[in-house]
Amino acid sequence: MKALIVYSSLTGNTKKVAEAIQTVFDRGADLVPVEENPAADGYDLVAVGFWVDRGTADKKAQSYLTGLRDKTVALFATLGAYPDSDHARDSMAKAAALLDDSNRLVGSFICQGKIDPKLLEQFEKLPPDHPHGVTPERAARHREAAKHPDEADLINAKAVFTEVRQKLTAGAV
Ligand SMILES: Cc1cc2nc3c(=O)[nH]c(=O)nc-3n(C[C@H](O)[C@H](O)[C@H](O)COP(=O)(O)O)c2cc1C
Repeated sequence: MKALIVYSSLTGNTKKVAEAIQTVFDRGADLVPVEENPAADGYDLVAVGFWVDRGTADKKAQSYLTGLRDKTVALFATLGAYPDSDHARDSMAKAAALLDDSNRLVGSFICQGKIDPKLLEQFEKLPPDHPHGVTPERAARHREAAKHPDEADLINAKAVFTEVRQKLTAGAV
């Protein structure tokens, strides 16, 4: 099966996940940064990866996603928040909602990714009652994010995309 993996990544987290997903496709998937705006025609699967920016897909991924028509699509993403949070679910749902109805969404994966230290420095200047001010709970989340994506995340991403590949190969979706 022919897969295209398009990823948007500012600091490399989402790129790491994209590279792990590439290994799932035996004959290799085409791995292309979103900046190259690859044509998605002729692929059995188009996997689009983004980093979460203010609760949705980052701008570059947004414009790629909104341009897709009649494709079989799977999404993957990294974010600073916990992957089992409402914020993670909402961010993925918002990205999925950008897809035109002519596309078919067959899978998704999201995990934490370390937050740009420059952004964390800005957070430290904010008062604790600000939504991004550093409280002990947020500091713990930032410390956890700093460890991701880790080996377990990459294994999980590969498992999700292996299932997608198997289902598509079997014609089950
Ligand atoms: C400008 C900016 C906005 C961000 N907004 C969010 C956000 O709304 N929610 C979140 O959980 N993480 C947010 N993050 C964290 C990134 O999504 C996270 O660090 C991601 O793994 C970065 O991926 P990349 O290395 O592929 O660029 C933001 C990061 C930046 C720099």
